Amino acid sequence: MRILVTGGAGFIGSNFVRRTLATRPEAQVTVLDAFTYAAHEDNLRDTDGTQLCEVIRGDIRNEELVDTLTKGVDVVVHFAAESHNDNSLADADPFVTTNVNGTVTLLQAATRHGVRFHQISTDEVFGDLDLDDPARFTPDSPYRPSSPYSASKAAADHFVRAWVRSHGTAATISSCSNNYGPRQHPEKFIPRQICGLIDGQVPRVYGDGRNIRDWIHVDDHNDAVWAILDHGEIGATYLIGADGERANIDVAGDLLECFGRSRDDFIRVTDRPGHDRRYAIDPASTRALGWAPAHSDFATGLAHTVQWYRDNEQWWRPAYAAAEAQYATTESPLT
Ligand SMILES: NC(=O)c1ccc[n+]([C@@H]2O[C@H](COP(=O)([O-])OP(=O)(O)OC[C@H]3O[C@@H](n4cnc5c(N)ncnc54)[C@H](O)[C@@H]3O)[C@@H](O)[C@H]2O)c1
Repeated sequence: MRILVTGGAGFIGSNFVRRTLATRPEAQVTVLDAFTYAAHEDNLRDTDGTQLCEVIRGDIRNEELVDTLTKGVDVVVHFAAESHNDNSLADADPFVTTNVNGTVTLLQAATRHGVRFHQISTDEVFGDLDLDDPARFTPDSPYRPSSPYSASKAAADHFVRAWVRSHGTAATISSCSNNYGPRQHPEKFIPRQICGLIDGQVPRVYGDGRNIRDWIHVDDHNDAVWAILDHGEIGATYLIGADGERANIDVAGDLLECFGRSRDDFIRVTDRPGHDRRYAIDPASTRALGWAPAHSDFATGLAHTVQWYRDNEQWWRPAYAAAEAQYATTESPLT
């Protein structure tokens, strides 16, 4: 199978590439990535510096390049995106052009060449749930995005569905909850706290910290994507989650414990505007394909992730410094 992985130099995409090469030796993987600030050169290199697969440095909005690359493969797995909510609040334009226009460019090429397409989406397209609401998101939940990021992902999903219906594109969509694991950019919640803790800092939690995210290990996410590629029904949307609901203050506490510090040794900072309260995934649609998460113990998954950041300081240090400089312009401690 020849696979084009867009965004394969970022967090989830590079873990997908590594897992695919390890578990499916017959797969021929090509990565298309623009190498924005969110990518890392080492994500697709072995420890000795060897490139793990073919890597094309280019933009999913480049129609000619996308057409050429799509023509030569059996499947496109589309991870590439602007992915940080806070950035989308500051400037939505790259989110519209990459997440929406880029997805349409890929859909058009996949349709032209009869190539299977899988759209990596997010549970954030469904908006949020109340903290005391027992409901979870299902594939039939209405789209109610709250941020420019989630609105752009929702728009892209609508285009995928329209292309399936109107042009017969062989496409599927998966909406996954919050991922954690190695190689996540330190602007994101868990790696940001880990890098800070390695430096002896105090974790910073938005608002009252009671916001709930439904955490899943990145390898479990990527195994579920393979279950969908292998057994999914064209046109369907699958929800991927690992029953991992946790409040942000509890995750901060878990991380503090990993560093032998008191669970409540964190500070609260100004909340993100429009901050979603709770995400919760009902993963029945993906479990029906025979998939189940392997990393069911969050504490162990977190400890391994902490160890990865301890072992790979050179990987995160420049990006962490840049992210902290950015946070310093927007964040202030709450009294
Ligand atoms: N991180 C999560 O918890 C999470 C959860 C659910 C869904 N998702 C989705 O998974 C996908 C990957 O997320 P991530 O956390 O790995 O993001 P990331 O920001 O770490 O990686 C995104 C990658 O896309 C590349 N990219 C950005 N714009 C591009 C363009 N115009 N052309 C080509 N490449 C481009 C970047 O260089 C980067 O390598 C996204 O679509 C995101 O919406 C993420």
